[in-house]
Amino acid sequence: MKQIKRCYDDFLTLRKNEKTFRHLMEFKSLGAGRILEYGGRRYINFASNDYLGLAKDKRLIKQSVIYAKEYGVGSGASSLITGYSSFTEKLEKKIAKWQQKESALIFQSGFQANCSIIAALLDMRILREEPIVFVDKKIHASIHFGLRAAKVRPHYYDNCNMEHLNLLLDQYKNDLRPKFIITESLFSMDGNTIDVDRIKELKKQYDCFLICDEAHSAGLFGENGSGIACDVADCVIGTFSKALGVFGAYVACDESLRQYLINCSVGFIYSTSLPPQVLGPINEAIDLIHELQKDRDLLHRNAKELREAIKSYGFDIGLSNSHIIPVIVGKEEAAQELEAKLKSFGIWCSALRTPTVPKGASRIRISLSRFHTQEDIEALLAALKAF
Ligand SMILES: Cc1ncc(COP(=O)(O)O)c(C=O)c1O
Repeated sequence: MKQIKRCYDDFLTLRKNEKTFRHLMEFKSLGAGRILEYGGRRYINFASNDYLGLAKDKRLIKQSVIYAKEYGVGSGASSLITGYSSFTEKLEKKIAKWQQKESALIFQSGFQANCSIIAALLDMRILREEPIVFVDKKIHASIHFGLRAAKVRPHYYDNCNMEHLNLLLDQYKNDLRPKFIITESLFSMDGNTIDVDRIKELKKQYDCFLICDEAHSAGLFGENGSGIACDVADCVIGTFSKALGVFGAYVACDESLRQYLINCSVGFIYSTSLPPQVLGPINEAIDLIHELQKDRDLLHRNAKELREAIKSYGFDIGLSNSHIIPVIVGKEEAAQELEAKLKSFGIWCSALRTPTVPKGASRIRISLSRFHTQEDIEALLAALKAF
């Protein structure tokens, strides 16, 4: 026992020495997904994924209360036992329509959806041979987990580098095993988006199955906020936990794939389905998202201006072309210093360090919300300028 415990303690000591130790902090969100209270002080929150401020929207909260009163606060079982209801089915049909796909299936979280869907789709016992899997190097941790569970040996291509992907695909062009491409549509640490037309061409040329994680683009890009890749990817995975302001996740695909996931995705099969008071606000958010084009436009406009202003101060924002804007400062200490400087100006932004981002590319990440005012943005810029 002692020996086991020492291994964990050694790991924590290493993290502390490397200044990468993580600890929990207690926050209170104070409204419109924007103001945050921590340690008795108020900050402007630039570290939230509640991009459209829906987490505190009265209409969503109302639906949560209605569903809780009508159906209870827990679903009581996994979907295949008794945890699936007529309102879940209706909601899935609505999501499928929004995503311009035949079908959709609700999962308990984006992390759980990614792990279990990737593991199910790449299952060698089902495919009858090891698939060839091409994966963007900056893919989310949950997809790495799915890849590990599937025991495949992925070929990693440089982030969003379609020439590199093409090169790798070309090396396997005569290999007849099933081929998969796995990517995000908008990368969460860098705020850059895929070249959707090029990936479509490559998918077609090399006959690949495309899986796309739309966690940070769903609700914000595309027609009615449906995302960037729903008409290109064979399997779209999105979350309700970011722009849609709630919790949980969906996969949008054709009906036979949905049936396959119901039968083979262990995370779906062996976990209690989402509670009614979460499904109610998701349902409301999907309705609302169709009406929020003005909010999306405002967010994109503000993000563009902010990116340009930050660049003009000489900061490196990488390849960001979205509302997620990294300010890359290199060393861990520099990111921590910048974080502290911003906090002293009443701005909350988190420093991201290795292993979340590559060593030497530490950064603070700015997440812009539709509810940030011009004054909030100016306050952020003043703080950056003072660094
Ligand atoms: C790209 C990406 N995929 C999936 C997830 C997981 O989603 P969820 O928070 O709903 O579990 C995240 C969350 O940080 C993410 O950034």
